Amino acid sequence: MQYQSFPGVKGSSESLEKLKALYLPSLKGKRFIDLGCNEGYFCGYAWFDGAAESIGIDRSEQAIGRARARFPECRFLAQSWEQLPDGKFDVILLASALHYAADQEVLLHQLMDKLNQDGVLVLEIGIVTSDKSEWVSVKRSIDERLFPTRYKLMEVLAPYAWKIVSRSVAQAGDPIGRFVVHVRPMRPFVYLMLENPGSGKSTIARTLFARSQVPVVSGDVVYHRIKEGRLEVPPVLKETVEAGLAIGGNDQAAQKVLTAGLTGELVDVWCGLGGEQDFALDSYVPKRFRDAICAAFEVRGYVPVQLNWEMERSGSDRDLAASRAERYTSLLAQRASVTDFPAFEVRRLPARQIKSHIFKWHLDYPAEGQMFEAGSQVQLAGWMLPATNEQANYRCYVRSGPVVEYFDFNRQREDVIKLFGQHADMKPSTSGFYGFAHTLPPLLAGAGFEFGFELAGKRIPVAHIKVRSASKPNLLMARLKQKLRTRLTNVAG
Ligand SMILES: C[S@@+](CC[C@H](N)C(=O)[O-])C[C@H]1O[C@@H](n2cnc3c(N)ncnc32)[C@H](O)[C@@H]1O
Repeated sequence: MQYQSFPGVKGSSESLEKLKALYLPSLKGKRFIDLGCNEGYFCGYAWFDGAAESIGIDRSEQAIGRARARFPECRFLAQSWEQLPDGKFDVILLASALHYAADQEVLLHQLMDKLNQDGVLVLEIGIVTSDKSEWVSVKRSIDERLFPTRYKLMEVLAPYAWKIVSRSVAQAGDPIGRFVVHVRPMRPFVYLMLENPGSGKSTIARTLFARSQVPVVSGDVVYHRIKEGRLEVPPVLKETVEAGLAIGGNDQAAQKVLTAGLTGELVDVWCGLGGEQDFALDSYVPKRFRDAICAAFEVRGYVPVQLNWEMERSGSDRDLAASRAERYTSLLAQRASVTDFPAFEVRRLPARQIKSHIFKWHLDYPAEGQMFEAGSQVQLAGWMLPATNEQANYRCYVRSGPVVEYFDFNRQREDVIKLFGQHADMKPSTSGFYGFAHTLPPLLAGAGFEFGFELAGKRIPVAHIKVRSASKPNLLMARLKQKLRTRLTNVAG
């Protein structure tokens, strides 16, 4: 009985419609085989589409005889699919034939073993609707055969990557639906995070991947291990990485390596660390090299999944951030010239008057120009290293008119001792402290005061501190200017 349909001869199967439903990949240059090929309809298509080799197998001598007559360009074998030609295939087709196999599961696994790493098995099969995982015996007009339920198919194909790609063309009297399933060998995924520095790659690596126990290869770590000789790599790669790191760190290492055409060498290192399993790569790659990186992973048997996400990229906009900061500084300077707040004026007394007693001193605050807030307490803090090598009692004082307030050194200030201690010819103070921090009442601070140290009972003034009041005319001017600016901005807006 005629099964396949050709122009001028109509079989029980609509071969053209089946061909459309199969969604065959491009067969150009590929090695193709059709098992249960019948009169060779699909082998002829593979030859037409540019397959490097198109082979058909059918146990029916008669079908093979007709196939040879139709498509002498193809190779046809009159035998069972239990015996397959040597070598691997890019595309294996098994259409409306699996149910004839003595052991369908065994045949499926055998066919998957005959596929190249990036090959595909195209199945066209009947699937029984059921929520159980089982082979169901189905009565057809010509015979009774076993067909899988969808759950059985899921179970059998679990070791592979597979997808039901379409519903196939029905044949008269079909008791169950026919579907087309593409099955591929499982390949490891590599999740590529190649975005610009500062876009959040490492955070995603740490959260999403590390938490899901997907190993992460960090490009930065790789460059440093290469530099330190802790990874065995081709000498040219090591030299290039070193050159990049020397001029500008990891980003430059990436630029240099990829510009030098060492993509393959670098991807080999990443694959070596990731292993033949799913892994994530956290490594900046300039945009123009990203396609080449994906291609290099594909060639090495991985499925590259490039991750893209939107994020404000602090890394890529460094220049922009710097220029914005500069413009803000100009605004602050402009403001300072037109605004006027009450502020501290700190006048240090000439050093020569105190240098026989004091080696160095400093007032951290109030600082010259520091804003004074009427009614608030004022912090006075700083340090002093005495010039005397006599062990003595030191104190600080502030004097405002007849009022004098003394306070002790109460901070260690190791930072100061580290910086200047070895230059000062001094003995430690009895307290061991060189720093002070003291709170002044607002009234005293606002009135202005003398600040100094008391050494061996002698008061040594070191600074006069007063509050410079806001000049009213300036404030008025500032407000006027601000109003004018706001109005101009509104008009422009
Ligand atoms: C229903 S036809 C499908 C033909 C073709 N695949 C199509 O879809 O147009 C099934 C074909 O499988 C062949 N066949 C059945 N068991 C086979 C086996 N063990 N080895 C090779 N061919 C077999 C039959 O001879 C028949 O030509």
